[in-house]
Amino acid sequence: MLLLAVETSCDDSAAAVLDGSGGVLSERIHSQREHGSHGGVVPEIASRLHMSVLPGLVGEVLAEAGTSPADIDHFAATAGPGLTGSLLVGLSYTKALAYACGKPFLGINHLAGHLHIHLDSPVEFPAVALLVSGGHTMIFRMTSWNSCLLVGSTRDDAAGEAFDKTAKLMKLGYPGGKEIDLLARNGDPDAVELPSPLGSRKNPEFSFSGLKTAVRLAWESGTVEPADLAASFQRTVCRLLVSKTLYQAKEYQARSVLVAGGVSANSLLRRLFQEECDKRGLRVFLPTMKHTMDNAVMIGRAALSALREDAGAQSPLSCNAFARWEGTSLSPLSR
Ligand code: KG4
Ligand code: ZN
Repeated sequence: MLLLAVETSCDDSAAAVLDGSGGVLSERIHSQREHGSHGGVVPEIASRLHMSVLPGLVGEVLAEAGTSPADIDHFAATAGPGLTGSLLVGLSYTKALAYACGKPFLGINHLAGHLHIHLDSPVEFPAVALLVSGGHTMIFRMTSWNSCLLVGSTRDDAAGEAFDKTAKLMKLGYPGGKEIDLLARNGDPDAVELPSPLGSRKNPEFSFSGLKTAVRLAWESGTVEPADLAASFQRTVCRLLVSKTLYQAKEYQARSVLVAGGVSANSLLRRLFQEECDKRGLRVFLPTMKHTMDNAVMIGRAALSALREDAGAQSPLSCNAFARWEGTSLSPLSR
């Protein structure tokens, strides 16, 4: 069985060919660099770049996998959440391919996609998952791949957004999560006292806007070293993410902890999760660095997960792009 997956929800165009066990035969990720000078993703530029890049990427992954559209059994693309214009490029392109080849199309939820990057790992359920990216900060309880309930999310900014805004304030460029991570290595995390909003580990909700204000005030005081501020900010965010996730893992008697999304590239977050899970005898699953960012392998694996539950799973060709996901029960397939 061969599956072609496409992801274009924000500013990364990605395509991959997977086999029936979720193995990757080929994959490409093209990250748009054109947004850096604008200080954030410009939706119109993003969709135009997806249009020009995607056909080439799909051609490359098919060639590398030694296959052609006619040999693909299932076609999958991200339906949402994300930027509508960007989503529509990958969604329409992939639907058209599926229709032309007379094969099923699966519209995939991007959030379920991030969690499914771990589909090929020996995850034991029940599990607790933290999805932490530029747009989302969410804790889920999972009893199986297809049974995933939202426990808590952010009331304002996402954790990645907080990293990006802090980096912007400190003139480190966009996106700035990686820059803060690098700068923080030379800083003292005890140097700047910062608040931990909604800090109780028992509370699964997050709030980062008060922290953002405190960081701005500290920066504007002109009395803090940039590396110290980066280190203090990063440790505050990472401690909140780890302590809340692990509290839910304990409450739920989880056997595994999954972490996914762009911020799971953060070196301190990875180290804290590994150390704290080791102490508790919990297995923690962190994506490879390449798969922390938006990619098509996660979309392909989410599609496979839907197909494992129902071999006839597919979305209608009327399946539309959606900007936001609202609800508590997360499933891979969008209808
Ligand atoms: O999942 P992703 O690629 O896109 C979204 O769906 O949002 O996540 C991008 C986010 C950005 O906010 C970026 O600054 C953040 O992930 N990020 C990091 C690191 N690398 C990327 N945040 C903290 N530390 C990093 N090393
Ligand atoms: Zn994402």
